[in-house]
Amino acid sequence: MSQIKIQRLGLHGDGIADGPLYAPLTLPDEIVEGDVEGNTLKNMRVLQPSEHRVKAPCRHFKACGGCLLQHASDGFVATWKVDVVRQALAAQGLESNLLPIITSPSQSRRRAVLSARRTKKGALVGFHARASDIIVDVPDCQLLHPDLMPALEIVSELSQMAGSRKGALSATVTLAETGLDLAVSGGKPLDGALLAGLAQQAERFGLARLTWDGEVVATRMTPYQLFGAARIVPPPGAFLQATKEGEQALLAAVKRAISGGKVGVDLFAGCGTFTFPLAEKYQMHGIEGETSMVSALDAGWRGSSGLKQVTSERRDLFRNPVIAEDLRYDFAVIDPPRAGAEAQISELAKSHVSEIAYVSCNPVTFARDAAVLVASGYVLEWVQTVDQFRWSSHVELASRFIRK
Ligand SMILES: C[S@@+](CC[C@H](N)C(=O)[O-])C[C@H]1O[C@@H](n2cnc3c(N)ncnc32)[C@H](O)[C@@H]1O
Repeated sequence: MSQIKIQRLGLHGDGIADGPLYAPLTLPDEIVEGDVEGNTLKNMRVLQPSEHRVKAPCRHFKACGGCLLQHASDGFVATWKVDVVRQALAAQGLESNLLPIITSPSQSRRRAVLSARRTKKGALVGFHARASDIIVDVPDCQLLHPDLMPALEIVSELSQMAGSRKGALSATVTLAETGLDLAVSGGKPLDGALLAGLAQQAERFGLARLTWDGEVVATRMTPYQLFGAARIVPPPGAFLQATKEGEQALLAAVKRAISGGKVGVDLFAGCGTFTFPLAEKYQMHGIEGETSMVSALDAGWRGSSGLKQVTSERRDLFRNPVIAEDLRYDFAVIDPPRAGAEAQISELAKSHVSEIAYVSCNPVTFARDAAVLVASGYVLEWVQTVDQFRWSSHVELASRFIRK
C-alpha cells in the first residue's frame, strides 16, 4: 500500500492522482492510501487531510451515493464549481466575468427520483449507494425539502403493495403547491384491483396526484406550480428546476440578462419556468420538444390574466432549429438539456437577436456553444454559476450574451 497525493478534483467530483488514479471522497493535496484496483483507489484512508475537509453534515453520506462532496467545505465546493465554468470556457479560448455562485440551502430539493425495492421485511427506499444498485434508506436526508420527506414512507408502502422483488421502483416525487405529486414506474402492471388500491393509498396519504407507469390513477388536488403569477400543471414527472431557490436565482439572472425590447423567444421552454415571469413584461413565444409540456404551457397561459401574449410551439430544436431569418425577436432565452444546443446556436449566431440569456446544466457544452456565438460577434458579458444540486458535481449557470 503506497502513499498517494491527490492532485485535483475531476469533473465528476472524484479526487485524481497521477496515473490518472481516481480516488472517490478525496480532495486536492490530500495524502491518502488504499488498494489500487484498475484506475480506482479502493478502501481509501486519509493520511493527511486537506484544510477543506469537513465532517459530512448527513449521517448517510458514507453509504449513500446521492451526495458526492459532503466531505468538502462549502467554500471549497463553491470555488471548485466556479472554476469548472472557468476551465470549460478557457478550453474554448474564452473568458468572462464570473459572478459569485448562488448555492441552494440544504433541505431544499423539491423534486427527486427515489428508488425502492421490496424486501422480505418491508422495503428499502432512498438513493443508490455509490456505483452500486444497492438502495440506501435515507430517513435523515439533508438534501430533500422537509415537505418531500413523507414520500419516503409513502413510496415504501406503495413498493410493498405493488413493487416486485426482482426490479426496483423508480418514484419521481415533486412538491406541488397543493402537496406531493408522485409518479411511479417499474411496478406491477395496472389492473382494476391495483387501480382501486392505489387510488385508496392516494387518498390515505393525501397525495395531490399519483401516476403509475405513465397513467394518472388519482388526482385529488390539481398539482400546480407557480411560475410568476401563472398556475401551471406540469405533466407527471416532468422537468422542474430542482429547488425553488435555484429557480429564483436562474430567473433573476435571466431577467438581468435582458435589458429591454418587446418580444422574446424561450427556447427549450419546458412548461414555462422563464416564459411566464417574462410575460409580465414581454410578449413571449415558448418552444419545447415535449408535447405534454407544450400543452401545460398553453393551458397555463389560457388560465392566466394580466400577462402579455404567450404563444407556444412543439418543435424538436435539435433536428429542426428555428432558422436565423425566423428569429425575429428582441431577445432569446435558451435552456437546453446537457447536450447543449449546437444546431439552434448556429442559427442564433447568424441572427439579429440582440440579447441572449443562455441557461445551462453543462459548462462543457455551454462553452462549446458560447464559442460559436462569440465567433459570430456576440460578447459573453457575464456568467452566473448556480448550485441547486448541492454536494453533487453538477454545475448550472445563466449568462448574458449581447451583440455589439
Ligand atoms: C433543462 S430543461 C429546461 C426547461 C425550462 N426552461 C425550465 O427551466 O423549466 C430542457 C428542456 O428541453 C426540452 N428538450 C429536450 N430536447 C429537446 C429538443 N430536441 N427540442 C426541444 N426541446 C427539447 C426538455 O423537454 C426540457 O423541457
